[in-house]
Amino acid sequence: MVLEKKSVRIAVVGMGIGKPNGTALASNPRGNVVALCDLLEDRMKDFAKDLPGEVKFYTDYKEMCKASDIDAVFVGTPNQWHVPIALEAVRNGKHVMVTKPLADSEEAAQKLVAEAEDAGVVNMMSLSTRFGDTCQHLGTLARDNYFGELYYARARSVRRNGIPAWNLGFIKKGGGAFRDMGVHVLDSAWWILGLPKPVAVLGAAGAKFGPRGRGYWNRSQPPQETYEQYESDDYAGGFITFENGLGLQVESFWASHQPDEFQIELFGTEAGATMSPLRLYRTDESGTSEDINVNLPPGKYSNSWDAIADHFIACILDDVKCQAPLRHGLIVQQMMEGLLKSAETGREVQIEEIGDQPKRGNTKMSVPKVKELRRLRDEENWTYDELAQKFGISDTCAWNIYQRNTWKHVK
Ligand SMILES: NC(=O)c1ccc[n+]([C@@H]2O[C@H](COP(=O)([O-])OP(=O)(O)OC[C@H]3O[C@@H](n4cnc5c(N)ncnc54)[C@H](O)[C@@H]3O)[C@@H](O)[C@H]2O)c1
Repeated sequence: MVLEKKSVRIAVVGMGIGKPNGTALASNPRGNVVALCDLLEDRMKDFAKDLPGEVKFYTDYKEMCKASDIDAVFVGTPNQWHVPIALEAVRNGKHVMVTKPLADSEEAAQKLVAEAEDAGVVNMMSLSTRFGDTCQHLGTLARDNYFGELYYARARSVRRNGIPAWNLGFIKKGGGAFRDMGVHVLDSAWWILGLPKPVAVLGAAGAKFGPRGRGYWNRSQPPQETYEQYESDDYAGGFITFENGLGLQVESFWASHQPDEFQIELFGTEAGATMSPLRLYRTDESGTSEDINVNLPPGKYSNSWDAIADHFIACILDDVKCQAPLRHGLIVQQMMEGLLKSAETGREVQIEEIGDQPKRGNTKMSVPKVKELRRLRDEENWTYDELAQKFGISDTCAWNIYQRNTWKHVK
């Protein structure tokens, strides 16, 4: 719903990745960070020194979510806490932004998305790779048909010594290399490809370094009582197929005997590309090949956190359509969990289509009506109130139908 006020009062939970997100939200002219939440008070105090205004400290997220002077919540805790905290926020009517990955399981992700959409709040993923200039540039080229038909992609994040263990959430159940780093390249590649519908996935995954106390960040070995608790993957890779015949190879290694790499490669009928370095490749009909190094000029934002913060605030205050709804996080989670499950069973996993929640009001609306609603909003700028009156539904329901950024709008 559009807020009357001209700025958003935001709470930041988790003082790790919460810092760059919080800094960007606080430096946005329409963002106001008014509260911090962490189990560790010292981390909050440290960060508060860098913030322009007064902030309240909370160590209990439930108490924080009840506060009436907070409009929106950023969730940046270990994976296992994303859903409990974001759920509490949406149940208290707060807009919510969650760091990647959306959740520690598909089930948790489903529950959060269903409740967030029903609550009618802005719900968004904070995706630093997708919102980066390089990925945005490739996405724009893809939408402009520069590549022709994109039919295949490879995406990988490879580290030599990069297992994070500064919180146990990384290495316990629900953590792991694929949910930590695979998620970045998977999400970005999927987004550049135009968010195709995933059909099936085959994967391999395991932990070859972490449980041995090797391959940790900066080559520092954590205490044995830490690495003994290793429960997640430290590598995962696989192949995802999509409804339009597209194939995506995706890999993530926290540790390996390979050079560091963070890469997306695109294969199109008219051109191809690599993300790092940003380079375009094509061969014309006469057989002349071109390799084009792209040096992007400084963009509108100094970094992706600023772009993410600005979009989140615009979704709340200006009612713009969210480009990275939690539903995208859910579909990415589905692909990740499918790959990890396939690795366990050695069998291909079919990806179920995610339907609407049964209790949602829009399940009764026909496809032509949904299309008409979206057209009126896109082309004639109807407000949600006007749409609600025309279609005999609530304005929240109209918002939900319009925001549903997926291939399936109604049953
Ligand atoms: N590029 C990115 O978008 C990016 C980069 C790094 C990390 N992350 C994500 O951020 C999350 C946290 O990673 P990190 O590196 O910031 O970890 P971190 O350990 O540095 O920070 C997490 C903080 O959350 C706090 N916390 C834990 N449980 C809490 C709870 N129940 N309530 C309140 N606070 C709680 C911890 O005390 C800690 O200060 C992970 O999900 C990770 O995937 C995203």
